[in-house]
Amino acid sequence: MKYHLKKSILVALGVLTFMLSKADEGQELFTKLCTPCHTIGKGRLVGPDLKNISNKRSPEWLTSFIQSSQSLINSGDSDAVAIYKEYNNLLMPDQPVDAGQVNAIIVYIKEAGSGISAEGSQEMAVDLLENAKPQNIIDGRLIFSGKTRLTNGGLSCISCHKIKDDNVFSSGTLAKDLTETHEIMGSAGVSAILSNPPFPAMAVTYAKNKLTLDEVFNLTAYLQSVSKERYYQHPVSFGTTFVILGIMIFIMLLLSIIVLYFRRKKKSVNHEILNRQSPVIN
Ligand code: HEC
Ligand code: HEC
Repeated sequence: MKYHLKKSILVALGVLTFMLSKADEGQELFTKLCTPCHTIGKGRLVGPDLKNISNKRSPEWLTSFIQSSQSLINSGDSDAVAIYKEYNNLLMPDQPVDAGQVNAIIVYIKEAGSGISAEGSQEMAVDLLENAKPQNIIDGRLIFSGKTRLTNGGLSCISCHKIKDDNVFSSGTLAKDLTETHEIMGSAGVSAILSNPPFPAMAVTYAKNKLTLDEVFNLTAYLQSVSKERYYQHPVSFGTTFVILGIMIFIMLLLSIIVLYFRRKKKSVNHEILNRQSPVIN
């Protein structure tokens, strides 16, 4: 009897430490990979609040979605397609986790969620820009366009991103147009992404050159204003203007060549003379 009790205590302890270490591993992974876009019980960020997610989705579904949401969406899975549409076709990047790690993350989400009494809400997390002033937008624009250097170095946003703003000329095409980003993901989402970019290309750029809190704030304020003002901008598409101008100039050149050289000799020999002098051929 005593022996059995001891054994079951040991087993229970073993299970508990196993679960705790799982939760630890899960917490570490969650903080590193998921917090830029998800909360547990604190509302929507870039993606949905994940509190109680395991009541809603099966472990298999969660593993497939987290590893590659795109593959699941492409396979036509109706839940994956629905949540993707609900989040404005914003693609969650594939996460570099194996099934065991996904399990650890789920254990952690459950544990962290149970400590929070509030029901997970899908309301946007608070508006961080409440105290933003016009100067923040101006400073954000200067940082975005590279006119102000980033405190810790690193490429300016405009070397990769496009934006619809009359005050900013020419921009990169390596990455997304950010004009509507703020409307889609909100201030919390934008600033979470900027503080800890989850996209490989951006993460590499800013891993060693972290944006400062002020820079994140100003850029978020700037992206909000761009998103709000986007209908009042008059983007000049130099691309098509140049193409049309080019074609017109080309046609004019052709025409002038035809006109100027209309009376040019069209054959290599003067045939009138040739015909006169060689009646045999004629
Ligand atoms: C760049 C932002 C981003 C990162 C990083 C991210 N997600 Fe997501 N996640 C999203 C978005 C956006 C959605 C909404 C679905 C969609 O748009 O495809 C989503 C959806 C989900 C869903 C489906 C929720 C539901 O209601 O069905 C789960 C589960 C999930 N994410 C888990 C994770 C986990 C776990 C991590 C970290 C390992 C993670 N995500 C990292 C953006 C992100
Ligand atoms: C080296 C290129 C690069 C630089 C520099 C860069 N980004 Fe990005 N950014 C990316 C890539 C790649 C993505 C992923 C989405 C995509 O494929 O366009 C991204 C995504 C984003 C997103 C999420 C957009 C969305 O709708 O999912 C935001 C917001 C963003 N960047 C803001 C910025 C800001 C602000 C700066 C300047 C501080 C910046 N980026 C600098 C490459 C870059």
